This record gives sequence, C-alpha cells and structure tokens, in this order.
Amino acid sequence: MKEVTAKANANIALIKYWGKRDDSLFLPTKSSISFTLPHLTTTTTIAISDAPQDTIKINEKLVQDEKITRFLNLFRKKYCVSDTFVINSKNSFPTAAGLASSSSGFAALAKGLCKLYDLAMAGRTPEAPTKELSILARRGSGSACRSVYDGFVIWHRGVTPPTGGTTQKTHSYAEQLFPPEHWPEFHIVIALADESSKKVSSRIGMQKTIETSPHYEKWVKRSESRIPHMIDAIKHKDIDAVGTLAERDCLEMHHCIQTSTPSINYLRPKTRQITDVVKKLRLEQKIPCYFTIDAGPNVKIITLKEHAQTVVEELKEICSVLTF
Ligand code: PMV
Repeated sequence: MKEVTAKANANIALIKYWGKRDDSLFLPTKSSISFTLPHLTTTTTIAISDAPQDTIKINEKLVQDEKITRFLNLFRKKYCVSDTFVINSKNSFPTAAGLASSSSGFAALAKGLCKLYDLAMAGRTPEAPTKELSILARRGSGSACRSVYDGFVIWHRGVTPPTGGTTQKTHSYAEQLFPPEHWPEFHIVIALADESSKKVSSRIGMQKTIETSPHYEKWVKRSESRIPHMIDAIKHKDIDAVGTLAERDCLEMHHCIQTSTPSINYLRPKTRQITDVVKKLRLEQKIPCYFTIDAGPNVKIITLKEHAQTVVEELKEICSVLTF
C-alpha cells in the first residue's frame, strides 16, 4: 500500500486575516502576512484505505473532524478521486498548549494528498511548493495557505472579477516574500496564557465580527494599507517597525472581535498580564519586543534572538513559555 509523508509548520500572522468575503471558497476580505514558525511542525502520513470511510488520527487519537472531512470531500471531487484514506497526523508542539495547529495541519494534508497522487502542483521539491498547493490548503483553513512556505509569507486577497467565475478562486493564494535566511535573527517567543481550547471557532468569530462589529470595515482598510509597510519593514530588518505594525494590527483586530454582538473575547486575564510585561520590557529596559495574538489567549512575542532569553526569564515568572 502506497503511503506518503508530508510536513508543514504553523505560522503566526504579523498582519492578520480575519474574515471571508466568500465563506465557501475561503476568500479573505484582505491580504495578510505571516512568519512560519520553524519548530511547530505537523507531520502527516496518508495511505489509501480499504474501508468505505476515512480514518483520521491526530496525535494517536481517532477523531471525527467536520473540517477535515469537508476538505477530503473537496479534494475527491476536484481531482475525481473515489478513494478513502488512513490519515495519521502528529504535532511536534505540545497539543495541550492551545496553539493553532490548523495552519500546519491543513498545509501538511494538502501536500500529502498531492504527493499521494503525484500531482505536479505539490512542487518539484518540498522547498518549492506551487501556488496551486497554497490554493488547495486555503480551502481547508485560510491560514493554511501561508503554511505551505517557510519564512515570511504573503497571502494575496485576490480580486473578484465582475463576471465572477473560476478566476476568483485562483487569484487568492500565498507566496513567499523572504526566506528564513533573509533575517535569521528574527525570533518568536510563545507565552502560554491558557491551555484550553477556544469556545468560539475562528469561522464563527469571523462571521459575527463581519456582521456586527461597527469597526470591522475600517480595520480592513487600515490593515490592508499596512501590507506594503510591513513588507518594507521586513525587507530592511527593522524590528521596531515590524513589531509596531503587528501589535497595532492585532489590537485593532481584537477590538473588532470584542465589539461584535454578542461580544466575543479570545483573551484571558493572563493574556493582559503577559502583554503588560512585554510593554514594560520595551519601555523600561529598551528591549525590542512586541506582541501579537491570534484567536486564542496565548501570546507570541516578536523579538530578536539576542533578546529572547531576557524575554523568557521575565515571562517565566507568570506563565509557561516556549522558545526554540
Ligand atoms: O485559518 P483560520 O480559520 O484558523 O484563521 C486564522 C485567523 C488568525 O489566526 C486569527 C489570524 C491569521 O491571519 O492567522
């Protein structure tokens, strides 16, 4: 029985994606930029099954996941495949840590499926994925389209032509902006505020924000306008510019989420304690460190390698910390 293995890493958004302009095609309302975290890896093996249904294991546990099933059905339909699969997916990072694994999970699954059927879109080598692969991963989880690449990555919003049609599906894809070697000193420290899983999925959170937050449209415009500035800041390895833009974008996104009706709040009291330490380190000790937070309470601290240990020592007093 043919079995393939594929790997992908989780990513953290520096300019966020929050909201779809087309829910079924996973077309975002705006472009986003991320950094792929080199040590948070999902490794997925896939084989064709003899059983009539898919068997899916995540970290050795059998699961029934609606998002994965929907994605597998989409793949079967798109590539005229009638096989079912045995899928075994493992995360290298602590499962209980509440860290988003959907980006690395769906990117690894998309890569694996393409490998299993020798589809050219898997890319010539694992280092050279194609934009088609990112488009496929996008249909599993939006942020997964960025996890197809290493380093600094942009996910283009794409344009919806007035005529509609298939091009709108293909114009929204991710591509690498800079490889990790461009800025090896760039570093992320992860501070764990709460290890339980989130109560409002990002899909529902996004829908509610778009429908009800009075601040959402303004944020979309401002956040989109940050894209060229963020590219420039990464290009010039300007940690203060990258950090300031990322922190602002994240705070404004959470403000939109919190001003939805009913209000949604992914942050916990510990989250605030962590961000206060980050601000104190920056303002009082002049350490270049900035925070960003996705749809959950944990905090990612953007800094440089030479300052990572100082950040870790301060945060260790109040929470568990991951650094690599
Ligand atoms: O891809 P999803 O549905 O898990 O959404 C991710 C949304 C954020 O993590 C909050 C932001 C982002 O750009 O990754």
